[in-house]
Amino acid sequence: MARSERKPRAYLCRRFTENVEAALKQRYDLSVNENDRILSPDEVESRAQGAQVLFASATEQITESVLRRLSPTLRYVATLSVGYDHIDMHAARTLGIGVLHTPDVLSDACAEVAMMLMLNACRRAYEADRMVRSGNWTGWGPTQLLGIGLKGKRLVVFGMGRIGRQIAVRAQAFGMEIHYHNRRPLPAGQASGAIYHADLDEALLAADVLVIAAPGSPQLKGVINARRIALLPPRAILVNISRGDLVEDAALINALTAGRLFAAGLDVFANEPDIDARYRGLDNVFLSPHIGSATEETRDAMGWLLIDGLDALYQGRTPDNLLTP
Ligand code: DGY
Repeated sequence: MARSERKPRAYLCRRFTENVEAALKQRYDLSVNENDRILSPDEVESRAQGAQVLFASATEQITESVLRRLSPTLRYVATLSVGYDHIDMHAARTLGIGVLHTPDVLSDACAEVAMMLMLNACRRAYEADRMVRSGNWTGWGPTQLLGIGLKGKRLVVFGMGRIGRQIAVRAQAFGMEIHYHNRRPLPAGQASGAIYHADLDEALLAADVLVIAAPGSPQLKGVINARRIALLPPRAILVNISRGDLVEDAALINALTAGRLFAAGLDVFANEPDIDARYRGLDNVFLSPHIGSATEETRDAMGWLLIDGLDALYQGRTPDNLLTP
């Protein structure tokens, strides 16, 4: 691709890291959503006209209409996310549009955030931080801000995939007993002693701490509902790093308000960024704004995985991170 007019046209829906954008500009005739505002499907459709490659992220809804309107030129959607529930995969397959995503390179970062949420929820970090900042701290106290320790507790990982396994490794180092629920057990040797529950309800009964790490999908919407939250042991802790809509907000908020759950740590929400406002008023929930993969190294690595995958495709090879067609 020596001359700039011969570069394939591409549209970048969100600003990627400087390193990654520089590499994209070398390879593509790149138009950029300069101010980084989240784009509606209509905006993506009109701005990306003529593009061969659409660089997206989990904030853009890549609907059937977007794909159809762009399909005369569009060859690939490259999403800076491991999740692809924001893309109409059926339409992409039907239209012969390749979808690339960013597995593996973000597993450590996401597992770190799961541990961050777990620790902050167990140790009442939001209340503790506020006490010091507000000037209301009157000094050390024997019963002040007592939390719950992790050692010896049972962690249930709902969704023991690449990220779930990294969470389990870290939790084991904290002395936790690991349980998990997947549709199928992990192959021998990959479970590192974790106890498998074929039945989600049965797994929940064991969860001193529940971490939701299952991929987002329409089938799992609302799976953690009032009935299932009631199965958790009293004063359990719930952590969600997957997608917000797996959890029924009203059910979780009721359980936190009633003290039925000790605390929650949430990095993801239904309808981001317009989260259920009731969370803001709860002391026993630790909130973060979908930062699972947000480290400098990880975001660079995610960008490079997309670049390398597309380079391979343009050279006639099939990269591992290609999902369709
Ligand atoms: C992912 O990679 O799916 C994260 O949730 C960021 O979108």
